[in-house]
Amino acid sequence: MTAAFFPAQDEVRQWLQDAAHIAMLTGAGVSAESGVPTFRDAQTGLWANFRAEDLATEAAFRRDPQRVWDWYAERRANMVHVQPNAGHHAVAAFQQRHPGRLTLATQNVDGLHQKAGSPEVLALHGNIFDDQWLDPCALARRPQDGCGVAQAEPGHPPRCAQCGNLLRPAVVWFGEMLPMDALAAAEQAAERCDVMLVVGTAGAVYPAAGLAHQARAAGARVVIVNPHPSELDDIAHRVLAGTSAQVLPQLLDF
Ligand code: OAD
Repeated sequence: MTAAFFPAQDEVRQWLQDAAHIAMLTGAGVSAESGVPTFRDAQTGLWANFRAEDLATEAAFRRDPQRVWDWYAERRANMVHVQPNAGHHAVAAFQQRHPGRLTLATQNVDGLHQKAGSPEVLALHGNIFDDQWLDPCALARRPQDGCGVAQAEPGHPPRCAQCGNLLRPAVVWFGEMLPMDALAAAEQAAERCDVMLVVGTAGAVYPAAGLAHQARAAGARVVIVNPHPSELDDIAHRVLAGTSAQVLPQLLDF
């Protein structure tokens, strides 16, 4: 089956060809066709069945570490075998063909852009397969010394063998700061790009969604790829109402 090629898509492809620099922001929608559930899609989205405040905040983890750990463990298990789709591959191949021309920032923690071979990915919300300590080590003499060995009883959140500190998933939870270097690089790209491609995100979570506003204010053309309306449609020059696995290979094939 070949996807329809809309005139707007033709025009956007031309903008991309003319662009010296492209910034790209992706969200859960780019992984939907790999089988990873999104957050806000009705019925299938994770937040249709769970409350974000119960699972994706530090307070939730402190209140019930086991519940949050288990939820992330299940998501990890579901993600470990998923494969990048045609959208991820199109981006990675483009970055490889045109080094430095496209800066990719993602809100996704699934690692699929990296798996597809994208040489540089600004992981704004972290990586679900990494862990980090919840607190500074209570026994360390210097603040920069972390805990020692994590002890894991099967099925329980791992703890520091010495001070009891907990390991948590190294993702950005609601109310937390984004990794400073990644955010700064993404902002710089938004500031200097000619085209900002916003793909597979509802545009509801800041500061990530702010990158689109920033690019628009700095004079870039803003293009959205999303089969459904998003909160950023109003600031876009073009909205391509298709899926990322259909549209990206056609936009980024040069
Ligand atoms: P959302 O679940 O909020 O939005 C997913 C978007 O993808 C929706 O606008 C869908 O219409 C669109 N979509 C669905 N299938 C698609 C497809 N095949 N191709 C293109 N688009 C498609 O996910 P995000 O916007 O990424 O943060 O959510 C942002 C953040 O909110 C996440 O990183 C996560 C979440 O809570 C944290 O956990 C901190």
